[in-house]
Amino acid sequence: MNEIAPVTDAAAPKATPTLPDAQTVTEVKHWTDRLFSFRVTRPASLRFRSGEFVMIGLMNDPDPKTGKVKPLLRAYSIASPSWDEEMEFYSIKVQDGPLTSKLQHIKVGDEIILRPKPVGTLVHDALIPGKRIWFFATGTGFAPFASLLREPQTYEDYDEVIITHTCREAGELQYGHDLIESLKTDELLNELIGDGFWKKIKYYPTTTREESPKMGRITDLMRSGEAFEDLGVPPLNPESDRAMICGNLAFNLELKDLFENTYGLEEGANSKPAHFVVEKAFLD
Ligand code: A2P
Repeated sequence: MNEIAPVTDAAAPKATPTLPDAQTVTEVKHWTDRLFSFRVTRPASLRFRSGEFVMIGLMNDPDPKTGKVKPLLRAYSIASPSWDEEMEFYSIKVQDGPLTSKLQHIKVGDEIILRPKPVGTLVHDALIPGKRIWFFATGTGFAPFASLLREPQTYEDYDEVIITHTCREAGELQYGHDLIESLKTDELLNELIGDGFWKKIKYYPTTTREESPKMGRITDLMRSGEAFEDLGVPPLNPESDRAMICGNLAFNLELKDLFENTYGLEEGANSKPAHFVVEKAFLD
């Protein structure tokens, strides 16, 4: 795997908010030319469950006819855990994307809009008790799991935590890799959750278009049995396994089909907890 040192801006003093629902950027890290993460201040009254998303964005350019400016918002998974005093997001950069073409240029001290109404299905409440939890991500779909991997309940509820991340290129794995590594030395989390909590995690990164230690789509690696062999666990079953999926649409549909028709798992929701839940990763 490539070791890419992210470019980090140091935190600056907080500016006075001027936008509606404004929050101030406190840190920006550029991981690749297609990916970046950033942290912002957290609204004092905002409560959310790890794994949920909120609408965030910027003011749009003025309408050429009316001159009016409107907010341009998109759903972003919160990548930080529910207890964190700031909020973290992990984003793609699309050069002609309406929002990310601009958002990728934010700097420490800038403001973004953050609507304080968290929602989402990738929450522990939507799953019935089990022994092992699987997190399946492609690309920026890692974001909600960056939250859930830092959430104490993940380790209270499960004996084993497996995170798979499939990306095109090795550099796109770096954010997830660094986050998991950081858990080992995070004193607060080790104290809060229990010393060595991170030993419950099995991390399974794969790439599809660039050489890395494990190549292939996770779906193919599961069908062939290779993923289970590598991880030293049996294929998923409704008695012991629970799963959350967050990736591109084709990936989500393929895994859902595999779960329902091969492993006999049932999809859950907040209102009806079951074995697995699915959410689409934001792409723009
Ligand atoms: P691939 O390179 O074979 O298309 P993207 O950047 O297009 O969202 O893809 C992110 C990662 O998800 C890529 O490694 C891609 O593999 C993989 N992927 C795309 N569709 C599927 C699918 N249906 N099942 C499994 N992995 C997929």
